[in-house]
Amino acid sequence: MSSNRRKFIKQLGSTIMLTSASLASFAEVEAYEKRKLFAEKRISPSDKIRIATIGMGIMGFNDTRAALAAPGVELVAVCDLYQGRLQRAKEVFGIGIFTTNDYKEILARKDIDAVIVATSDNWHSQISIEAMRKGKAVYSEKPMVQSISEGLEEIWVQKETKAVFQVGSQRISSIAFKKAKELYQAGAIGQINSVEAAFNRQDALGAWQYTIPLDASTQTVWWDRFQGKEKLKLAYESNRFFRWRNYKEYGTGVAGDLFVHLLTGIHFITNSRGPDKIYAIGGTYYWKDGRNVPDVMSAVINYPETPEHAPFQATLRVNFISGEGDRTVTKIIGSEGVIELSGEGEGFTIRKNKLPAAPGIGGWDSFSTYPEDMQKALMDDYNKKYSAADQQRVQLPGVTFEAPADYSAHNEHLANFFDAIRTKKPVVEDAEFGFRAAAPALACNDSYFQNKVINWDANQMKLK
Ligand SMILES: NC(=O)c1ccc[n+]([C@@H]2O[C@H](COP(=O)([O-])OP(=O)(O)OC[C@H]3O[C@@H](n4cnc5c(N)ncnc54)[C@H](O)[C@@H]3O)[C@@H](O)[C@H]2O)c1
Repeated sequence: MSSNRRKFIKQLGSTIMLTSASLASFAEVEAYEKRKLFAEKRISPSDKIRIATIGMGIMGFNDTRAALAAPGVELVAVCDLYQGRLQRAKEVFGIGIFTTNDYKEILARKDIDAVIVATSDNWHSQISIEAMRKGKAVYSEKPMVQSISEGLEEIWVQKETKAVFQVGSQRISSIAFKKAKELYQAGAIGQINSVEAAFNRQDALGAWQYTIPLDASTQTVWWDRFQGKEKLKLAYESNRFFRWRNYKEYGTGVAGDLFVHLLTGIHFITNSRGPDKIYAIGGTYYWKDGRNVPDVMSAVINYPETPEHAPFQATLRVNFISGEGDRTVTKIIGSEGVIELSGEGEGFTIRKNKLPAAPGIGGWDSFSTYPEDMQKALMDDYNKKYSAADQQRVQLPGVTFEAPADYSAHNEHLANFFDAIRTKKPVVEDAEFGFRAAAPALACNDSYFQNKVINWDANQMKLK
């Protein structure tokens, strides 16, 4: 047994408290262990996967590092629209890497098997489609599309080309989300009825005011290409390029950036295909820096009853000026308990409360307002009807799960992508899943900007 595996099992022993035999299946843990053991094996040169990253900004660097953590992956080329980031890519990944500001040069190369598309949202779909048509496997950052109208074509191109295509919402590969799903599906919280999920932040970087380099200009940035496939005709602004999330022309607001993570987790755990009604409100309450998207947004989303789940409603919020500080949470609430997942899937707790069989009598009730004789008769009647056990509120023991300290859902997500390329097994987050999470997130923007409820057909993946 490898030392990693031993360490992992030890960590599990100290951090998991599984208190019901029916909940104690370790299938996901086993799968993770297998992955780790596989990662320790040597990969033959013929198994090597040669990748390129298109969009070498914050996430491009992070995705590339996570990709290179998988065995048998080699970075060949990098594309970005800002020169400084190409220079930085050579500093970090080696001088021999091919760099360009034109993604078409990357796609034309025969020696590249897979591309990571980590551009601003406005380019995800276009580059992914072109890459699949050129025979590349594609790891597309979320949201899969910038607008709902792009989704079906991308799904269709994936089906037509049979390209390995995975969306980059890493919480799907998180061991905590997988374990929570297993327990949810085993009935740990009874019947689902609602979800409350939020990203709270309280800092300028968290609100997307990223650092801008001193040489930012049209000399160092390919501004025209940045304008997307629509070729918008807007004058150069460094803010728009380096802080594009603040502008709906390039990004997708807090909904496309962050609600999509929340929806991904919710759909994954509940096996949902998506909601039918979406309504959002929002505003720019604090970060009045020229952005044209909200910094506080709330959505109410209805999930009708389907074969996969009971009806439930999700309330989502992003708050970039939250006095609560930084906190990300997803609470899945059922009739007999609640699963509370923290952050990106570092862990979760399940608290369980079972409704007693007896309805209760006395206390905050009309009982004490009746005459003495009536109270006595009511109480006799109640005690006859309900045993002492029926009258007891049942508090079942809970569950606490923490992912091992060395575990990275991000590394795991990229490793899953490369496994799919090698083994031809299905990816963990395909185009349909990615679009089913992206579309309702983007519908929140449509609802906010058009001030109306958006109706969505989750089966057909079409607006109603
Ligand atoms: N999965 C996650 O948790 C996660 C986290 C952060 C960001 N993201 C996603 O990653 C993407 C990038 O975000 P970021 O924070 O790294 O942004 P960023 O601004 O730091 O980097 C984006 C880069 O894309 C480049 N780019 C844009 N259009 C291009 C084109 N046509 N060709 C080549 N390069 C192009 C820009 O030059 C820029 O350097 C976003 O879509 C975002 O939603 C995902």
